[in-house]
Amino acid sequence: MLEKSKLICFDKINSTNTYVKENYKNLDNGTIVLAKVQTQGRGRLGRVWISQEGGLWFSILFKKNLKYPNFYTKLSAITLLSILKNLKISAKIKWPNDIFFKGKKLSGILTEIISKNGKVQAIVVGIGLNVNNETPPEGTSVSKVTGKKFEINLILEIFINKFNIYYKFFRLFPFLLTIAWKKNLIFKRNDTINGYKIKKITSEYLIVQKNDFKKKISSIHELEGG
Ligand code: BTN
Repeated sequence: MLEKSKLICFDKINSTNTYVKENYKNLDNGTIVLAKVQTQGRGRLGRVWISQEGGLWFSILFKKNLKYPNFYTKLSAITLLSILKNLKISAKIKWPNDIFFKGKKLSGILTEIISKNGKVQAIVVGIGLNVNNETPPEGTSVSKVTGKKFEINLILEIFINKFNIYYKFFRLFPFLLTIAWKKNLIFKRNDTINGYKIKKITSEYLIVQKNDFKKKISSIHELEGG
């Protein structure tokens, strides 16, 4: 469960995920680290995550009663969709966990595992949501889509409340979380992207097929050439 009392705020930091990874031993389970600006924001697959002022950039530390890492990623994605739906933005998940609206990225999630001697010690979930900030051309923001500015702390508070409600439910029925996640994906099984037909969707990889050639991919960019 997440609590507002376990919130640590920075005006500027390299990356909230890096901070949590470096300090997890001294931080409580459920700690949330928020930054106004990240100077070295990180995305999936070693990408850079541009994090100027006006966006919601935060990480959450989980170290008790750990579930599998994807549980937290999917839960965060479903929580973000619900917040966006309340703002009348019908966003979808671009596999595996990017939040898109009309072909542009609104939000990304970076889940990292901290392990020692092969044992998982903690999980860090980093969330970036473009709110009032400028974005690169392939991205968009809540403010661009709605034409309004939003209070970052309020969105975080709503995130915490919704996340806790979903957590209580989905920890009992994790298979329903996977169903909810699949239902909200932009690309589904049997869809074709650039001639590749999606044969199988899991949280970690996709199996795609072109003619008789099957391949396993871990990023949709491998099909888009992006
Ligand atoms: C992605 O789409 O590739 C994931 C982006 C994750 C960005 C967030 S912002 C807060 C946290 N700190 C980071 O350095 N990255 C995540």
